[in-house]
Amino acid sequence: MNTGLPLFGNVPHRVADLSPETIAFGRREIELAEHEMPGLMAIRERHAADRPLAGARITGSLHMTIQTAVLIETLLDLGAEVRWASCNIYSTQDHAAAAVVAGRGGDAKDLRGPAVFAWKGETLTEYWWCTAQAFDWPDGRGPNLILDDGGDATLLVHKGVECERAGAVPAPESAENEELAVICSLLAAATEERPGWYREGSLLFPAINVNDSVTKSKFDNVYGIRHSLVDGIMRGTDVMLSGKLAVVLGYGEVGKGAAQSLAGQKCRIVVTEVDPICALQALMDGYQVVRLEDVVDEADIFVTTTGNVRVIGVEHMRRMKRNAIVGNVGHFDNEIDMAGLAAEPGIRRQNIKPQVDAWIFADGRQILVLSEGRLLNLGNATGHPSFVMSSSFANQVLAQLELHQRREDYALGVHVLPKHLDEEVARLHLDKLGARLTRLTPEQSDYIDVPVDGPYKPDTYRY
Ligand SMILES: NC(=O)c1ccc[n+]([C@@H]2O[C@H](COP(=O)([O-])OP(=O)(O)OC[C@H]3O[C@@H](n4cnc5c(N)ncnc54)[C@H](O)[C@@H]3O)[C@@H](O)[C@H]2O)c1
Repeated sequence: MNTGLPLFGNVPHRVADLSPETIAFGRREIELAEHEMPGLMAIRERHAADRPLAGARITGSLHMTIQTAVLIETLLDLGAEVRWASCNIYSTQDHAAAAVVAGRGGDAKDLRGPAVFAWKGETLTEYWWCTAQAFDWPDGRGPNLILDDGGDATLLVHKGVECERAGAVPAPESAENEELAVICSLLAAATEERPGWYREGSLLFPAINVNDSVTKSKFDNVYGIRHSLVDGIMRGTDVMLSGKLAVVLGYGEVGKGAAQSLAGQKCRIVVTEVDPICALQALMDGYQVVRLEDVVDEADIFVTTTGNVRVIGVEHMRRMKRNAIVGNVGHFDNEIDMAGLAAEPGIRRQNIKPQVDAWIFADGRQILVLSEGRLLNLGNATGHPSFVMSSSFANQVLAQLELHQRREDYALGVHVLPKHLDEEVARLHLDKLGARLTRLTPEQSDYIDVPVDGPYKPDTYRY
């Protein structure tokens, strides 16, 4: 590792800026966000006295934004100890990180918050160093819970175990990409300094897949992207979107949100899909379904949302028209083949401003790539708004509570939250929007055989 920082050095925190102005800015925005996060605030209120997460040591790997700050402080209020790293090199809001480290009522000289390791614009080496720090409690223990967006923290533990079992870490030069090489270097240093730090097991712990809660995937993925996709494109490029031809790659939850977002700006939208059901949905929603290669030279905007690898290859980017905008809101960093683009003979990268690059081909044509192919809604804008994140993060907190309090009910494997908790998350957000829910009468409850207090739908219901 070459961060210039010790791997197991008890570094207390590492954020960009702990000036009073930055801390105060972060705190003001956290307070605004709290008002928009009724789910988290209700959970705080409910558990103010009993502190059900006492004894929990949570390692978090999740975008270090203002909304995440509210999540972290909710976990603290519930009694947990927390260490945090971002799950993306560009998504950290430095004022959020500063305010969390300072803690409520604290400042740079009197830090009252948890350890955070995150800043906007980390290198990959720094990123994985930060992730490792989030695991390393000052007393040398690890976490007993992991809150992981994207799986990098989980990957690190599992790769660590794999290497310890094999008795060796693969040489970084043998890794198939730059990021794996960085992970190998980190693990080589870690296993040398602390043999046995990564413990035994294959899947080491039960996990709850929060993404599969309805109040996460049908809300954050759709309505969050509806808000934050055009926010990112506009902040990044200032290009007028109306009338432009936009290709949305993938029409799952995020793709639907992306299409709604671009439709709100009156783009002309076409969709690519591999799944006939999603393709038919796109058609029913009024979008033409095409193959990328058929529109690649005429479209103005390309947005990947598939969760899949290399859906835009360099062979596509070569054919795009001048200043075509290329961005991703799907999987972290490999939907767009950035390595292939960088290896294109004669290509030049011109940085226009942070997270906006013109890539100039040998023949002089150029395309604009946002956030180096990583999530542009977080890199070029501030991610999803607080209200929708309240729903996602209420799921996160309930999952931590489940695993902490009822661990024995969860066998090794990946689980989803029980339906009544999913419904509870939605319920917590209704008042804020002035909703008045209808209550089943006993007669109606009997007639449709659904309990008056829910769950209202079977697990198979698709919403
Ligand atoms: N940017 C964000 O803030 C954000 C928020 C939520 C989720 N996500 C990520 O977005 C990704 C998608 O999530 P989702 O909930 O929409 O998943 P999903 O499974 O509902 O949708 C993905 C869709 O892509 C399609 N697809 C797969 N390969 C394709 C290809 N080669 N060409 C065209 N279509 C293809 C699938 O058929 C599917 O319909 C995930 O990686 C998720 O982690 C990002």
